[in-house]
Amino acid sequence: SDSYSLLILPGDGIGPEVMAEVVKVIDWFGANRGMSFDISEGLVGGASYDAHGTPLTDETMVKAQVVDAVLLGAVGGPKYDLLDFSVKPERGLLRLRKEMDLYANLRPAQCFDALADFSSLKREVVAGLDILIVRELTSGVYFGEPRGIHSDDNNPDNEGGRVGINTQRYTSGEIRRVARSAFELARRRNNKVCSMEKANVMESGILWREEVQWVHDNEYPDVDLTHMYADNGAMQLVRNPRQFDVIVTDNLFGDLLSDAAAMLTGSLGMLPSASLGAPMANGRPKAMYEPVHGSAPDIAGQGKANPIACILSFAMALRYSFDQGQAASDLERAVEKVLADGVRTADLMGPEGGTPVSTAEMGDRIVAALSQA
Ligand code: NAD
Ligand code: IPM
Ligand code: MN
Repeated sequence: SDSYSLLILPGDGIGPEVMAEVVKVIDWFGANRGMSFDISEGLVGGASYDAHGTPLTDETMVKAQVVDAVLLGAVGGPKYDLLDFSVKPERGLLRLRKEMDLYANLRPAQCFDALADFSSLKREVVAGLDILIVRELTSGVYFGEPRGIHSDDNNPDNEGGRVGINTQRYTSGEIRRVARSAFELARRRNNKVCSMEKANVMESGILWREEVQWVHDNEYPDVDLTHMYADNGAMQLVRNPRQFDVIVTDNLFGDLLSDAAAMLTGSLGMLPSASLGAPMANGRPKAMYEPVHGSAPDIAGQGKANPIACILSFAMALRYSFDQGQAASDLERAVEKVLADGVRTADLMGPEGGTPVSTAEMGDRIVAALSQA
């Protein structure tokens, strides 16, 4: 049926501002495309901490496990920076990812032609760019044990007497499943995967390279696979990003490389993501959709935030959770149209000018463009 359950978690800072624009888009699809959405709202991050003393309640966690898709705004902010580590807003987001087992984080970076002059790189380098970073999201140094801050008192040479520990740890199974996601996606694109690690300095990197190669050789020999050290990958991403199609990499490298890729598109406010897990009983993956950017405390509450990353994340929900590929493309085309018309939130305003709009006006323009299509 065309009925979908959604859990919306707006979060902190600009999260609620950009999510309000997504709700307009959802309402439009409900009213005009015969889809019906069963929407519930919840708290995550600092907003949940303020209300319940925890960045994610068990009730919200349970709800996230049973809906067709979770939509998340952003979490965090200076107000919460000094909180105990275990209740920081970011822990709520990481718990959702871990307990839903959302191991494949798809972060597409596309340069819309209207923004090619606005990127901090030259138009010739970014025009037509369409790459997909597949970031492993539930393991690696984000979750590896042992971890913590400990005293190092019996080491007299350590001024300050403390040690901070995190562990990069990957199992072969964790690497194989995210590699499969990357190869599957590549087959539907330009059939190329570049895997990035640091096999030159990390054993986990050697395992990463071997297991990605194993999945390739045994299951996806038709896909063109290359390997690159992640530091070179960062350089290649700004030197000649169009050499890539799909990049598959670990949790931390993927976090860094996707923020860098954002600037190829013009703004961090443009980058959507889908965090996907294993299929549920209905055959659809467990899923959460979230913009790549954070809560942007520097612009929160001013109507300046670009809602496009969050709106394009909903387009990914249409595609990957609801099987509504046509609707997803229509939404992406509406965004493209509005940008082509010169409509710009503050983060997209360059010397070439344009029509400056607020967060809410950008949402309204995108809905209007949907209606015209
Ligand atoms: P950030 O992504 O919030 O902001 C970085 C810069 O990009 C800021 O100058 C901000 O104004 C700008 N920016 C981000 N999104 C924008 C948008 N939609 N429109 C216009 N400009 C935008 O990163 P930060 O400042 O390093 O982190 C702030 C807080 O957000 C921290 O607490 C961090 O942990 C958290 N964070 C959360 C997520 C998430 O919820 N997924 C992601 C990244 C950071
Ligand atoms: C992201 C963010 C998160 C991450 C933080 C807020 C936990 O930076 O989604 O990119 O590091 O994964
Ligand atoms: Mn990040």
